[in-house]
This record gives sequence, C-alpha cells and structure tokens, in this order.
Amino acid sequence: MLRVGVMVSGGGTNLQAILDAIDAGKLTNARVVVVISNNPGAYALERARKHGIPAACVSPKEFGDREQFNEALVAKADEYELDLIVLAGFLVKIPQQMIDKYEHRIINIHPSLIPSFCGVGYYGLKVHEAALARGVKLTGATVHYVDGGMDTGPILLQKAVKVQEGDTPEVLQRRVMEEAEWVILPEAIHQIANAKQSQKEGGDNR
Ligand code: GAR
Repeated sequence: MLRVGVMVSGGGTNLQAILDAIDAGKLTNARVVVVISNNPGAYALERARKHGIPAACVSPKEFGDREQFNEALVAKADEYELDLIVLAGFLVKIPQQMIDKYEHRIINIHPSLIPSFCGVGYYGLKVHEAALARGVKLTGATVHYVDGGMDTGPILLQKAVKVQEGDTPEVLQRRVMEEAEWVILPEAIHQIANAKQSQKEGGDNR
C-alpha cells in the first residue's frame, strides 16, 4: 500500500478527487496518510479532517526564516514515512532538501499543457488568464515529477481541454479541473501505486 502525503494551499478539490477515486475503487493500492498545508485557512484541511485523515499545517509565519520553515516542512513529511508526496495546489516552492530526500517521489499537478504557461508566476487563475490572453484553442493539465526547477520535471500524464468562445479565466479553470485535473491526478497515483505493487510481486516471485 503506497503511503501518500498530499500537500495543499487552498480549496483542495484535487485532494477531494483523490479521496473520491480511492473510495470508488478507481485508485487502488494507495492510502492518503496525511494532508499538509502552509495555510491554516485552507479548506483542504477541513476536507482531510472530514475524511478522518490527519491534517497538519506548517505555516511560514510561525518561523523566523525560510530555512527554519523548510526544515519543519520536511520534518512533518518525514513523520509519516511517505512513499509519495502529491502537490495538489501547493503554492510554496518545495525546499531543495525535500526534493533531494524524496527524489522521484514527488509529483505535481499543473493546470496547463507544460511547457505552455508554466514556471515562475504561473499558478492558479493566472495560468488560465495567460492562456486566454494568448488565444490558445487547447489547454489542459499536466502531472509531472518535481525536480529542482519550476514545473520542469519529467511528465507523467497530460490531458487536453478545449477553450470555448466566451470563456472567462474562472470558467476555463473549472473546465480544466473537471475534465483534466481531477482525472489525471488520481490516475497518475494509481499508476505509481500499481507499478510499485507489480515490482513487489515480481520481487516476491524471484
Ligand atoms: C489547481 O488548479 C492546481 O492545478 C493549481 O492550483 C489549483 C488548486 O486547486 N496548481 C498550480 O497552479 C501549481 N502551479 P485545488 O486546491 O482546488 O485543488
């Protein structure tokens, strides 16, 4: 069973999609063992509690400097012996020590087709504003592994979504979530969890 930690900053609809997929039996061999937020007011924490999942907050405001915050964030994740960290709308730069420690074990959902509309300054609604300003006809979402750069790690899954006449950033954001993010994020975790499982089974058979 893959032990998953989900890191969030806001509403947590992607977290909800993961929990729903587990409950529906579409995402197997994985369990969300903790939800961690940098923001004490994140509704995602409430979603975790409602599901009986430990909800932790590590806020930069509680620490004297960034380094202390980074250490506390890594220490919190370490408490739960995680196999996979899922960034589901986590809008804080991941500390390098976490990237090194959890190499190939951190994935992120980004609301565009990377390499479009990604990198520094592209998060949340800003991504959809930029897509509409450029006039693209297709956008979508990407799940990728996290490396030292911003949205630069290897891509696991992508799904395209059509832009429609008259879309506002909010309308487009919602469509990208419904048609792409909430589909490919649980799917990516399922693939990782079940690849691990078959490796283990393979190992047992030898
Ligand atoms: C999602 O659209 C996610 O793709 C985006 O933040 C939103 C969080 O929503 N992430 C980024 O922009 C990362 N660069 P949620 O809290 O409802 O899941």
